[in-house]
Amino acid sequence: MTFPTAAFPADVPELGDGDVRLRAHCETDLPALVEQCLDPETLAWTTIPAGYGEEEGRSFLSVLVPQGWRTGAERTFAVEATRPDGTRGYAGSVALRDKGDGRAAVGFVSHPALRGRGVMSTALGLLLDHAFDDLGLETVIWWAMRGNWASRKVAWRCGFTFGGTVRRWLAEHGDYQDAWVATVHRDDPRQPRGPWWSLPRLEAERVTVRPLVAADDPRIVEAANDPTLQRWMPSFPAPYTAQHATEFRALVDDAAAAGAAFSWAIADAKTDLLLGAVAVPRRTDTSAEIGYWLHPEARGHGYVRDAVDAVVAHVFAPRDHGGIGALRAYVRVDELNRDSLAVAYACGFEMAGTERAGLVRRDGTFADMLVLERVNPLIDF
Ligand SMILES: CC(C)(COP(=O)(O)OP(=O)(O)OC[C@H]1O[C@@H](n2cnc3c(N)ncnc32)[C@H](O)[C@@H]1OP(=O)(O)O)[C@@H](O)C(=O)NCCC(=O)NCCS
Repeated sequence: MTFPTAAFPADVPELGDGDVRLRAHCETDLPALVEQCLDPETLAWTTIPAGYGEEEGRSFLSVLVPQGWRTGAERTFAVEATRPDGTRGYAGSVALRDKGDGRAAVGFVSHPALRGRGVMSTALGLLLDHAFDDLGLETVIWWAMRGNWASRKVAWRCGFTFGGTVRRWLAEHGDYQDAWVATVHRDDPRQPRGPWWSLPRLEAERVTVRPLVAADDPRIVEAANDPTLQRWMPSFPAPYTAQHATEFRALVDDAAAAGAAFSWAIADAKTDLLLGAVAVPRRTDTSAEIGYWLHPEARGHGYVRDAVDAVVAHVFAPRDHGGIGALRAYVRVDELNRDSLAVAYACGFEMAGTERAGLVRRDGTFADMLVLERVNPLIDF
């Protein structure tokens, strides 16, 4: 079956930037479009239904897309770029959905063979130029299911400002999913509005300090229910469940992306088994707090000292070398927690003072917190 010529609106502008071009969809896009819609990542992060086939593809190209252009409700472009085999062709689709009053939402999917090459970032940049410069829009919004890091990076690269996580908002996969939201305004520079923070892997002799993964959850739950840990970490829920661990990891990712806090697993360098966790739970432009805990089986071997040393080195490393660039690292220790104090001293922290009633213990009493610090040796104060 061929498409009626009228199916493809004639007034779709062509927008180009180097190798990447936005244009009207055409019939030859169909095979790649269907491939893209059967891809597991596409299915995981979009409303495209499972079992997408040629019929759905034809209907999208010949009915939905032209209808969107005719009514102005949704301007969908095909993205064209050079494929890995050197040929040019369909690389994905980007859409601008009218939300009224000078506002629109973006949607985008790229063909799996062209992902991770900057094609979608360029395509979205072109779409935003069109939205603001040609259509005169004021604000464009991006929504994604929480955890869609590839999409978030594309939005970040194009100048969107992250707005937060909206609980159970996107209706996808038969349920309401937590959603990320970000916006870009016509006056915003179309480039990143801050650094793209990430959690590096830090290698020490016996431990690896690495991002937390789902496989760590059972060990996190074991450790978090340990009575010693419960005593000194009053913010940990009791009892601590697998759901808490999953939620903890999601919050860790969000906080790291905002550059607000960083948490890593301390893992055995040989087996990768989780031994504990080390974190920068708070930071300012000049200082970074360090926190740590160990699984009960891992205590007494000096693992936490190795991990803290690695994290302090990262905290002190300049920002342009991938570090945090802090002038000062500090720990806050309950005055009764002798083991934690010993770790702080072993890691070279020196007593700086006492924070009166700095923590409410689980039994409701107030703890004076000992503050110990290390200053960045790379900086000439
Ligand atoms: C989201 C999507 C369109 C991105 O397309 P793309 O062509 O790969 O985009 P780009 O190459 O311009 O940028 C993707 C960036 O995300 C990064 N990325 C990919 N997966 C990532 C992850 N899990 N964590 C962090 N970054 C990730 C890539 O490395 C790349 O960054 P880099 O250029 O610094 O290396 C594509 O992954 C896709 O089609 N996914 C399925 C559909 C979808 O999620 N659509 C968006 C719905 S809101």
